[in-house]
Amino acid sequence: MTDRVKQWSSAFQGFPHLIHGTDYNPDQWLDHPEILKEDIRLMKQAGINSVSLGIFAWQALEPEEGVYNFTWLDSMMDSLIENGIHVILATPSGARPAWMDAAHPEVLRVMENRVRNLHGQRHNHCYTSPYYREKVTKMNEMLANRYKNHKALAMWHVSNEYGGECHCELCQQAFRNWLRKKYHNDIKELNQQWWTSFWSHTYNDFDQIESPAQNGECFVHGMNLDWKRFVSDQTLDFYRTECKPLKEITPNIPVTTNLQGTFKGFDPWKFADDMDYISWDNYPKWHNPDQKVWETAADVAFVHDINRSLKQGKPFLMMESTPSQVNWHDVNKLKKPGMHLLSSMQAIAHGSDSVQYFQWRKSRGASEKFHGAVVDHYGGADTRVFREVSELGALLGKLDEVVGTSVKPQVAVVYDWENAWAIDDLQGLNKERQYQETCTEHYQALWKLGIPMDVVHMEQDFSQYQLVIAPMLYMVKEGVGDKLKEFVANGGRLVLTYCTGWVNENDLCYVGGFPGNGLMEVAGVWAEELDPLYPEERNRIVMKTGDSNDESESYMAHSLCERIHPKAGCEVLAVYGDDFYEGEAVVTHNQYQKGDCYYIATRGEQKFYDDFYRNLATEMNLVRSPFGELAEGVSVEVRQSETADYYFVMNYNQSEAVVQVPSDVEFIDMATGESISGDITLGSFGIRILKKNR
Ligand code: GLA
Ligand code: ZN
Repeated sequence: MTDRVKQWSSAFQGFPHLIHGTDYNPDQWLDHPEILKEDIRLMKQAGINSVSLGIFAWQALEPEEGVYNFTWLDSMMDSLIENGIHVILATPSGARPAWMDAAHPEVLRVMENRVRNLHGQRHNHCYTSPYYREKVTKMNEMLANRYKNHKALAMWHVSNEYGGECHCELCQQAFRNWLRKKYHNDIKELNQQWWTSFWSHTYNDFDQIESPAQNGECFVHGMNLDWKRFVSDQTLDFYRTECKPLKEITPNIPVTTNLQGTFKGFDPWKFADDMDYISWDNYPKWHNPDQKVWETAADVAFVHDINRSLKQGKPFLMMESTPSQVNWHDVNKLKKPGMHLLSSMQAIAHGSDSVQYFQWRKSRGASEKFHGAVVDHYGGADTRVFREVSELGALLGKLDEVVGTSVKPQVAVVYDWENAWAIDDLQGLNKERQYQETCTEHYQALWKLGIPMDVVHMEQDFSQYQLVIAPMLYMVKEGVGDKLKEFVANGGRLVLTYCTGWVNENDLCYVGGFPGNGLMEVAGVWAEELDPLYPEERNRIVMKTGDSNDESESYMAHSLCERIHPKAGCEVLAVYGDDFYEGEAVVTHNQYQKGDCYYIATRGEQKFYDDFYRNLATEMNLVRSPFGELAEGVSVEVRQSETADYYFVMNYNQSEAVVQVPSDVEFIDMATGESISGDITLGSFGIRILKKNR
């Protein structure tokens, strides 16, 4: 289908199967040995081959300062592996025992208002605290030494969903030191980059700097950005502290930490090199009233693709998902019949080598007692959820060949964390920035055609792609403009939109016209001004080939309308249909050396992107799904090995969908082993995995 891809080894050494796993918290049930026994029996029945163990078990491991108890964990590790279940062993730093917070309050986070938190909840420690780092190092050392030769130990689950920030004095000092390093100890340089002469906010000394706060400094965007970068780096530094003993004592055991999709608290691209496996927790709002299920699926696909792109195509793990419902959405919908299998296989389709759950068994009390789990309070295996989980387990068991396979897309969409931070913080335009939503609109158009995509950051090496789509690239770091220029000069196609190339990495505006940093030359347009629209306001994109009175030749435009001036040689593909800029260019095409750059100056309705990218894909002859025109709500993804292509054909409709199968190619249904002849009908939320040998 596309270029040959590298096949990666399996996540657990010597375990060449897809992982079907779950968060498992036996530390909540230590007084109930009968439950622990029953758990193992049911896990085997459901085809569970891995558990993430001890994620919040600090208290069970160290009930009092310096008093350790590993005996329960020893016996869990033993009995799990005896039953063929591998362990992703957690470091317990995601939540702390009460004794620790009482004796060492420095571990408690200080909020932006400079008030220190009380003991409670989780994910709320200071990333700087030397005491906490010491404690975590000791704990991780003990775990690693104790289990380094244990057959159950397959991977490290470092902490849990890192995130959040601390404004304590230790963190303030660390922030100032981070700034000293970045600005070469030169306060003048910092003042210039932050443009602090505005409102007389110039600093005389690094010691005067305080982290951003609502009741303090929060409008210096360069500072806000640096704070976010610092928090990201400090979180990474904490993660590295946790990994150090694990890597030293168990160099062959891979480490991961569970990421959270497009959570903005830190930049996952900075973490990727320090993670042997990318893993992430996936909790979409399936069956929500604002979207069709397939629209939700396209949004989720985008995030899966980020996770696969983080390590250049290496398979990732879907570390958490719910087997039924969560307990923290506004409305905690059940997954309709079939949806569990489909949504789980979607992860596999996009490059996950696992389907894992939060959680195995519902706890009896506290915060998550009504969160979905494989085993309900009821306790039996005769539930809808348990049956669907078991059915999935059986299917995963037939897909060993897929392990380690991946895809090498011709197309990349740029979704950049630092750009997201900057766009969110921008004062101006309209309130809703919708950067991610905008990126997924572009993404969705190609997703519908079954064209694989990477989702990458702005500093990516673009030379491996044929088409790069970079919506709303407001921040263009110095040098990125040149990279994109070179990509186009060498024959690549680039799509840019309104709101591109406004600022550099410190949020200083480019002077001399937008899009800055050299992109004006590539795009062939000067973006003079931008008109934000009220929520109900509309404009139109009128295609030049059409008649402006013919609705079929025009598309609705909304949110933001940029007024652009095409330079000589730049072709106008569409014009505005309304307002004082009616008739002015809105979509352009500029040939730049061997390549092409398209500029879309407004936000179009989805159909605009669908048609635009369909034409482009056809013109570029991009490799797409071999199953002809896909019906609405049907998506096709591919994974490839040296010898075969594995097509995941998925129906996100509650009704049946027919998929055309080319008659001149042999496809094998991986679930049944049968060869396919003729078109196939997918049932409600149905999925087929079709293998094509080469
Ligand atoms: C997160 C956490 C889990 C659990 C789930 C609930 O992903 O990592 O511990 O709280 O959410 O959906
Ligand atoms: Zn702190």
